[in-house]
Amino acid sequence: DFDNFEDQLQRNTKMFLLCNPQNPVGRVYRRDELEQLAALCLRHNVIICSDEIHGDLVFQGHRHIPIGSIDSEISARSITLHAPSKTFNIAGLKCAFAVIPDRELRRQFTHNLGVRLGSANSLGFTAALAAYQAGEKWLDELLMHLENNRDILFEFIQNFMPGIRTTHPEGTYLAWLDCSSLHLKPSPHQFFLDNARVALNDGSTFGPGGENFVRMNFGCTRSMLLEGLERMRSALGKRD
Ligand SMILES: Cc1ncc(COP(=O)(O)O)c(C=O)c1O
Repeated sequence: DFDNFEDQLQRNTKMFLLCNPQNPVGRVYRRDELEQLAALCLRHNVIICSDEIHGDLVFQGHRHIPIGSIDSEISARSITLHAPSKTFNIAGLKCAFAVIPDRELRRQFTHNLGVRLGSANSLGFTAALAAYQAGEKWLDELLMHLENNRDILFEFIQNFMPGIRTTHPEGTYLAWLDCSSLHLKPSPHQFFLDNARVALNDGSTFGPGGENFVRMNFGCTRSMLLEGLERMRSALGKRD
């Protein structure tokens, strides 16, 4: 909704926080969408801070385009955040990086945030290096696995839990499930936790409007995914 987006930019907005690929809905933004978002940010002098941590987890038919790579004008107004922690499952090792091509913006970032962010530790740095230098084959296999899980999840919901609406994630390992039509009490999150012993992320933690949603992580083994889905189906079947 570009009209709404522009409206928000005009409210004394200094920075636009983009998440691409998007968590929780799994969208991977197309070039034309990114160009339009960026053009509006440039017009209203808004800095773009783009969280692209899921950028290596993109499925067939889609491509991750860093917004800062579109052209030099956008690049000069952008901060891109990235880390190997999602792709290679090494979050505990704490190593991330920011790409800030503009010298002055980089100075402000370092000056204001540098001390608070700390620095990478040697274990995290070594793991990141190993992942980026030698992890490509592993990542190719991971992507096939995740894409398969995405399809299994999608088909299972369509066939056996049609009351749930879901997006078809283009990337990430997250599915955003709309449970509004099921009227689950006290909330979809609590319902599935209590009745299926399946812990999903509570949609309400994503902000207003998320109350009837849950986020499901399908970055797991196929058997675990199927067991979780079966338990959810069974819990829904037992409702009075
Ligand atoms: C979109 C997004 N960005 C950033 C993070 C933070 O990741 P990390 O703590 O591994 O750097 C997360 C983690 O959940 C995330 O989903």
